[in-house]
Amino acid sequence: MCGIVGYVGHGDAKEIIIDGLKKLEYRGYDSAGIAIQQRGQLKIRKQVGGIANLEELIGTEDMTANCGVGHTRWATHGAPSTINAHPHSNQDNTIAVVHNGIIENYVELKNWLIENYDIDFKSETDTEVVAQLIGVFFEGDLLDAVYKAVEKMRGAYAICAVAADDPNKLVAVRKDAPLIAGLGKDENFIASDIPALLKYVKEIYLIENNETVVVTPDSVQILDEQRRPVKRDVFHVSWDADSAEKEGYDHFMLKEIFEQPKGLTETLMRRLNDDGTINLDGISMTKEEIENFNKIYIVACGTAYHAGLVGKYVIERLARVPVEVDVASEFRYRNPFVDDKTLFIAISQSGETLDTLAALREAKSKGARILSVVNVVGSSVARESDDVFYTWAGPEIAVASTKAYTTQLMCMYLIALHMAYERGTITKEFYDQFIADLKEIPDKISYFLKAKTGSVEKLAKKLYNRDQVFFIGRGLDSAVAYEGSLKLKEISYINSFAIAAGELKHGTIALMEPETLVVTLATQDFLYEKILSNIQEIKARGAHIVSVAKDGKEDVKAHSNETIYIPYCRDEITPLLSVIPLQLFAYYVAKEKGCNIDKPKNLAKAVTVE
Ligand code: G6P
Repeated sequence: MCGIVGYVGHGDAKEIIIDGLKKLEYRGYDSAGIAIQQRGQLKIRKQVGGIANLEELIGTEDMTANCGVGHTRWATHGAPSTINAHPHSNQDNTIAVVHNGIIENYVELKNWLIENYDIDFKSETDTEVVAQLIGVFFEGDLLDAVYKAVEKMRGAYAICAVAADDPNKLVAVRKDAPLIAGLGKDENFIASDIPALLKYVKEIYLIENNETVVVTPDSVQILDEQRRPVKRDVFHVSWDADSAEKEGYDHFMLKEIFEQPKGLTETLMRRLNDDGTINLDGISMTKEEIENFNKIYIVACGTAYHAGLVGKYVIERLARVPVEVDVASEFRYRNPFVDDKTLFIAISQSGETLDTLAALREAKSKGARILSVVNVVGSSVARESDDVFYTWAGPEIAVASTKAYTTQLMCMYLIALHMAYERGTITKEFYDQFIADLKEIPDKISYFLKAKTGSVEKLAKKLYNRDQVFFIGRGLDSAVAYEGSLKLKEISYINSFAIAAGELKHGTIALMEPETLVVTLATQDFLYEKILSNIQEIKARGAHIVSVAKDGKEDVKAHSNETIYIPYCRDEITPLLSVIPLQLFAYYVAKEKGCNIDKPKNLAKAVTVE
């Protein structure tokens, strides 16, 4: 999705902005651009494609400046093209604007500008409307003009503007799209995301909705809708710049797969008291509320939705409350049965996925209690929730989510255990044993990564050339099958499909042919016999079967072409282990096919549009 970087200070604005944009590349984009303030004029350079293309365009051109804005665009209004790339400017190129989000009434505003000011629009974007609006209102003070423009705008946006005739100043506004200000010494920054600024600053302000921020080299002032100053606590970022670097791995995805033991330990240990019970710091949900919930909705998108599927199984099994899992874009529009006895759990790595945020608001307006599982501290989902369970995965850069998923699962286990214990549906012995089992998971993953990565890579090299792959499993294994299938399709572009194994014979088995590749998860002890039957059904049609099973399960080997063994653990927590070979398989298949693993085509890391 789109990224914003703004700089004003004593440094080289072009260098700093381009460097910041590179840190946001992982979010997915199709064009990039920069506007700098140079000797009373704005120089705007933009280019379709990667940031390298933009750098090539600039070449050795003199772009010396101390103030400017930059942007990576992911097309929404208007095709990915140089003309539609940001920054956009007004008629006489004296105002430049970068923008994330959507201006809903841009057509109306465009017509108004044409009729009243005879504006000649250059692009097809909603953003140009913002630049033109600020342009017609500008009378020497950029802040004044931005306020007047914002009064007319409807939608969800973060914008950052710069004016040729109001030097050394950036003005940015936030409404439902992330925006931060970075606090340096004699230099200050604007960005849509923390990684853009990690190299330069650790102290930031999180800008709230309907706030405007005026940034100069020596001040950052936040103003509310009525232009009154707002006092904001400084937020100290604990990530370091290295956590957003590859550190010798070929791809962020592989690095993030290997970071899972660390992220899981962090997520678990931050929530455990010395006596081994779950620590609920910052969670205000009471025992009485937990006892009174009669329904839970888990709502999310993409990989986070798959973590929700696991959440449903464990919460229902342990805490005995009915749980529905829904994709956020569906939940919003189906008038769900939500009231004050409903617990709504939002899961989101970025905390900025627009559909998840909108679903959360819908549930909140109907009286639900909101608990979120989020990776980015201070993100919109976190801020709008009653309680937050943070995943401590660290920054996830690869578009294909790995460590965010497993840390989300860890949170789901802790939530399920805590609820079950408060509702009296499990014993203290069960609770203690479960936590002890969770504590062993990071070491088990480390062992697997060390001992088995090579064999998964070999398998991927053998099987990468398939046109289609099926993933099957029963119970919790079916939830993991969906995630394994998504991983493979999103980075290798292989047509992969996941289905609950028992459902195969109601249609999908028609697609089984000799050598059809089927990845089977067979980790649930109590469903073991059942999945063996499913494996035999497809084996009889000649399918090529790769199974994932727990150590010690020998019979599955006899029916499979290849078997990947994961360390033994209790049924409920196998997803934390069984997903690892699937992540590695997807990674090595994509690598073998020469795909752009960290930035797959058409995908974005954080989807901040509907
Ligand atoms: C995008 C990403 C996925 C992610 C999904 C939800 O589609 O490419 O990796 O799972 O959004 O994102 P969230 O930040 O809400 O977890």
